[in-house]
Amino acid sequence: MPQLSPRVTDMNDQGSDGWEVFARARAMVEQGIPVTELTIGEHDIRTAPAILDAMHAAAHAGHTGYATVPGITPLRQAIATRVTQRTGVPTKVENVLVTPGGQAALFAAHLTTLQPGDAALYVDPYYVTYPGTLRACSARPVAIPTTAENSFFPTKGALDTAAQTPGAKTLLINTPNNPTGTIYPRAVLENIAQTCRDHDLWLISDEVYDTQTWEGDHLSPRALPGMAERTIVIGSMSKSHAMTGSRIGWIFAPPHVIEALSDLAVSTTYGVPGYIQDAALYALTQGPDLEQEIAEPFRRRRALALDVLARQGTVGVIPSQGAMYLMLDIRKTGLSGQDFANRLLDSHHIAVMPGESFGISAAGHLRIALTVNDDRLLVALETLCTFAQSLTRA
Ligand SMILES: Cc1ncc(COP(=O)(O)O)c(C=O)c1O
Repeated sequence: MPQLSPRVTDMNDQGSDGWEVFARARAMVEQGIPVTELTIGEHDIRTAPAILDAMHAAAHAGHTGYATVPGITPLRQAIATRVTQRTGVPTKVENVLVTPGGQAALFAAHLTTLQPGDAALYVDPYYVTYPGTLRACSARPVAIPTTAENSFFPTKGALDTAAQTPGAKTLLINTPNNPTGTIYPRAVLENIAQTCRDHDLWLISDEVYDTQTWEGDHLSPRALPGMAERTIVIGSMSKSHAMTGSRIGWIFAPPHVIEALSDLAVSTTYGVPGYIQDAALYALTQGPDLEQEIAEPFRRRRALALDVLARQGTVGVIPSQGAMYLMLDIRKTGLSGQDFANRLLDSHHIAVMPGESFGISAAGHLRIALTVNDDRLLVALETLCTFAQSLTRA
């Protein structure tokens, strides 16, 4: 019997993909048990009808054939203009590749920069696909540990230690951050940039939550001195425009990197459907107002949730500034995030993600997604806090 490649079969270590509680919740829902799901990062609204109309019209106009592989020029131009306005970094069509979503962009960026066996650094806690993506590129994932006490920001010492790993070639960061809901401050990004320059690393900057900022500003590290030439930015319309199912995202990088990524795309995705690109162009043309409208429910729910949490003393929260998540600290209960999440699901039919699903640094924590309506979120959060208190007293 021919064997499968360990590059793929060993993608998820310990045989776990971190989604067991989510899978159990979905199984309960299928059995007709109502569950409040605060698990995945998907809006509770669908793609705006006007964007769908643009998609429909483009398909009917005949944009159903192969589209040009780096992306249609008007869309690449619109993306370049948007990022130039948002970050101040002059960006041209040649700096942009259109991709089928952020995940495909993450994979392509690593495959293009890493050789088999190279060390690929990433910050723990992390978005669940990261280590698997790196293993699928035949790289050695190296997690950079962080602590709740430091808001899960990587310290300069931890960055430099990881960067000294033999064969270190890339550093992957994510701000605004999933799962922690933090935004990296300038000082943290300057440390990251310094480490990349000192150790000659590519910086792969996942900025798919760049429109979800509640406090302070999102700073793209590509804008820091000397970084545009070594930074590969991952973007997506999944979160900014509630277009998760349309699979549309992008990469900004120096032109020679975009050329290499474009060659890779010819042998992998062969580009993004033309009618999806036309719909994306329409959506971007609506400007920041639409983006703010889509982000607004998360801003509101974060404030509501912080109010509930401020009224009790058992469940802590990592100071959050962005993205559609909050990271709760349940260490006072003495339970692991995994045990707490399983017990909460069984006893109260509320599904949350255990911190451990996102790496060992987030043990004893829970990630909640602010993706149900305000009333349901408030009830679920109050129940979660009361449950935590009952465990603490027990
Ligand atoms: C941090 C982060 N990066 C990338 C992605 C992938 O997004 P998409 O492939 O839908 O663009 C997600 C999705 O949840 C995410 O949270």
